[in-house]
Amino acid sequence: VSEGRLLAALRGAQVDRPPVWVMRQAGRYLPEYRRVRAAAGSFLRLCTDPELAAEVTLQPIRRFGFDAAIIFSDILLPLSRLGVEFAFPDEGGPRLPAPLATPEAWNRLEAAGDGGMAHLAETIARVRAALPEDVTLIGFAGAPWTLASYLVEGGTSRDHAVTKAALLSSPEAFDRLLDVLADAMAAYLRVQIAAGVQVVQVFDSWAGTLSAADYRRHVLPSLSGLLRDLDGTVPRIVYAGGSVHLLGELSDVSCEAVSVDWRTPLSQAAELLPGKAVQGNLDPAVLLAGPEAIREAVVTMLATAPTRGYVANLGHGILPNTPIASVDAFLAAVRGQQ
Ligand code: CP3
Repeated sequence: VSEGRLLAALRGAQVDRPPVWVMRQAGRYLPEYRRVRAAAGSFLRLCTDPELAAEVTLQPIRRFGFDAAIIFSDILLPLSRLGVEFAFPDEGGPRLPAPLATPEAWNRLEAAGDGGMAHLAETIARVRAALPEDVTLIGFAGAPWTLASYLVEGGTSRDHAVTKAALLSSPEAFDRLLDVLADAMAAYLRVQIAAGVQVVQVFDSWAGTLSAADYRRHVLPSLSGLLRDLDGTVPRIVYAGGSVHLLGELSDVSCEAVSVDWRTPLSQAAELLPGKAVQGNLDPAVLLAGPEAIREAVVTMLATAPTRGYVANLGHGILPNTPIASVDAFLAAVRGQQ
């Protein structure tokens, strides 16, 4: 049985070259995705129909031969099990028709049952059955802080001011909200692990919006609890956007790898996260700059990456207007081809 490069790198083993995959690798930059998405009618149907979700999960593997597949879904989907409603309009990202702005609203979140996840287990089984043995299957969930920001703001926010104000004016209730989200996401990830995902990634996309002190006090306890809940299951990657000031905090989290963006030098991440693998961190905008700029940026990235415990990736999700040829150039550079 071949464990594949991602699992090898996550346990710090020597690999012939870094494993590589791309955040948001199934998505609108792929013409085959846009076709299935249009036929499905809605993004929600695409996420919850096992045949369609499995198909779009596999598309980037067929085209590019990435070392890992990530189950197609969205971080907001499991919130419906807590009684939260949301929509995915064609522009502007997800929207909540009724944002949860007060402690009273947070307290009304329903306890997540185990129901409503049969489609997810079926998607995972279908994808695993179709994947080459050495391609690792990744499951994922949102981190409590990032999910809370969507709940409180009602959508993507530039400054997260409403969420920060809520945290500072009702700190105890807000910490409870984060704990409720952490428990629900641990259960959600355990369902994915039981169904066959081999690695999990927890997305704290908006980690960097807080000071280190506020992150340590309010965010770290629930994030740490969520990851500790998964001790002894599968390797865990924590994506922490904009987290150059948080590496000391993240070094205490129970996980095998931390995924950083382009603002964090890989060498600094490796140094401040002893015993953990590092994932990242090419700026997705580089993929809009043409093959020569891409090759140069990848060479620089690899030169600063640790020799063991490194996973090549972007620093955030791939942009919808990325040319296919740019992904080819990125992969060729990581794989050491010209
Ligand atoms: O290929 C994969 O990576 C798996 C699928 C995946 C999606 N969302 C599909 C998606 C994953 C892992 C996510 C995670 C996610 N979703 C995050 C964390 C990662 C990050 O980017 O920070 C966040 C913050 C969300 C919330 C979210 N969902 C946003 C901000 C958007 C709009 C962004 C956009 O590109 O329009 C979504 C919608 C969404 N999630 C799409 C996809 C493919 C676009 C929907 C469409 O096809 O119209």
